[in-house]
Order: sequence, then C-alpha cells, then structure tokens
Amino acid sequence: MPTTIPVTVQQNPSKLVLLDQTRLPEEELFLYLDTREAIFEAIKKLRVRGAPAIGIAAAYGMYVCLSQKPYESLEEMTEDCTSLKQYFANSRPTAYNLFWALDRMQRRFDTELQKEGITQEEILDALFEESTAIFEEDQAMSKAIGKHGLTVFSKDRHWGVMTHCNAGGLATSGYGTALAPLYLGHELGYQFSVYSNETRPLLQGSRLTAYELAKGGLDVTILCDNMASLVMKEGKIDAVIVGADRIAANGDTANKIGTSGLAILAKAYDIPFYVAAPTSTFDLNTLHGDDIVIEQRDKDEVINGFGRRTGPADAKVYNPAFDVTDAQYISAIFTEKGIIEHPTIEKVRKHLLTE
Ligand code: MRU
Repeated sequence: MPTTIPVTVQQNPSKLVLLDQTRLPEEELFLYLDTREAIFEAIKKLRVRGAPAIGIAAAYGMYVCLSQKPYESLEEMTEDCTSLKQYFANSRPTAYNLFWALDRMQRRFDTELQKEGITQEEILDALFEESTAIFEEDQAMSKAIGKHGLTVFSKDRHWGVMTHCNAGGLATSGYGTALAPLYLGHELGYQFSVYSNETRPLLQGSRLTAYELAKGGLDVTILCDNMASLVMKEGKIDAVIVGADRIAANGDTANKIGTSGLAILAKAYDIPFYVAAPTSTFDLNTLHGDDIVIEQRDKDEVINGFGRRTGPADAKVYNPAFDVTDAQYISAIFTEKGIIEHPTIEKVRKHLLTE
C-alpha cells in the first residue's frame, strides 16, 4: 500500500488537510486549509492534483467551508453551497472527478434540505458523511482497479512497465489507478521495473511517481519524456499504463499532455497501452474526445518553472495540460468493475450501466 495520504479532513476546528505536492520530493509539508480561496488556490496550483484527489479535496472543501460559521438561515446556507460548488468547479476544467464529486455533495445537500425540521448541524454531519464516503469509495475503487489490472501480468517473468505523470497514491486516496496493479502485484511477488516519464513541464513523473514508487519499494527508473521511443525500441517496455482525467462515452481519454503520443508509439512497437480509472472519471455526456475541454496553463510553467528561467520572458508559449488519446490506441481500460477491452461507445455504456 502506498504510504502517502494526500487528502484528509480534520473536524473541530474544521480544516482540509493536504500534503503539498508542489513541495515533493524535497519535503513533506502538510497544509491545513479552511478558506474557499486557499482551497481553490491549492487545487489550481496543483498542491493537490490527480483527478480523484481533486474530487476528494473539493468535496471535503465544501464541507469545511460550510462549517466555518453558523448561517443566519438555511436559505443563506443553501445559497453559499451553490456558490461554493460553482467556485470550486472553476478551478480545473478537465478532471471529471471534480464535477462528479461536487454534484454528489450538492445532491446530498438538497436531499437533506427536504427533511422536515433539519438543522445546519445535521446538514453538516451529512456532508461530512458524504465526503468521507467519496474518500473511502475511492480507496476501495483503486484497490479493485489494481486487482483487475494485475490480470494482464503474470508472476512467472519480469515486466517492464512505462507510466506517465502521476496516477498513484498521491492522486487518489489509496493505491492509485495506473500504479494500483503495480503496488498490488509487488505485494504479491510480481516483478516489475517501472519507467516513469518525467512529464514536462511540472515533472509529476519524476517528482511524484518516482518518489512514491521508490517509497513503496518498487524498482523505478526516471526517463526524460523524449526517451520513450528509444526505450520501447530497446525492448524494455512490455506495457504502458496511464491514468485518466476524463473518459468520453466512446472511450477517448484525456490524460496528462504527452499521453497520446505514447499511445501512438506503443501501437507502432506493438506494446499494449492501458488506461486505469474509476468509473467516476467517465463522462457519458461527452460523446467524443474532441469535446473534452483541455485546461490551458500559465506560460511560466514552461519557461520559468522551479525558479529558473529556461526561455525568453517574451517568448510565445503553448501550455495545454492534457491531450486526448483516441480509443483506437487503447488496448483496454481497467476500472473497479473490470476491464473494457478495445473500448467503443457500446462497450463503455454496457460496462458502466451493468451492475
Ligand atoms: O495536472 P495533474 O497533475 O492533475 O494531471 C494528473 C494526470 O494527468 C493523471 O494521470 C490523472 O489525473 C489520473 S490520476 C489517478
């Protein structure tokens, strides 16, 4: 089990507790946040990041913000709940789990409000319960994703696995998504060598994935992003596994910038390319990957990252945070419910809608 717990909440006084991922791997600094501005900033600046962890942080964040003061009336509390939801929804546009978690919190609020004589305290208790359920379900989902993903590997040989960005314990409340089969397999005696692409511009692959895998006792090698083709050609990679920020109804998958290129390379070298994600990352209302909104980020991340100027200040910079991998390049998607091989709109729908 990864040792990192990225997001929790403290009650009385109510605070959102986050491991500040922008400080890793240098220091493990925990933040205790209790204002909407600070929580928004933590999500926007990637202090907490990874689609499931963003959703958990926003859910706990709604509870924390609503529990700061007694409201004059339930109407005032209701208005604040709606405005908080809209505010957090504006922090990062691509990660679907954010919207999924906020909708779930809003629905729970609305359900409680229907109850005769309900008090603010009782609504807050219900919201705490809902956010804790989101946290705990995510933990269970990541373990189940690991179990299903592990079935494509075997114990009788050694496996080279490439991953991109961070879809591990730091990005969820448990084993992660892409890294879950690796953590689980490692516990059961499977042998993996993980190749973690450093993931420009914010280096989640080297700062976070290599950090947490090494901490979990797995063998990990950091690669610069532009080494992927060579390493595949050298025969070191048997499978690629990545996470997802949003999966469209037809299986097209948004994930960290650079992912779609890896999928195309994997196809060229006949290497299976897997996506691992909970069902809370699927957006059935988005039919095609072209309709997924891609977050655009600040140019300084590219030319002035980590305190060092690496490009002229007046240079034009393009900095999309994600790209979309066409479903045709995806060998299979691992979810907590099982495996969708060669995803299509029919297979995705059947997988999600079958109990
Ligand atoms: O910008 P980030 O660091 O939030 O991007 C994260 C990713 O792209 C992850 O692969 C994705 O959210 C899946 S996390 C289980």
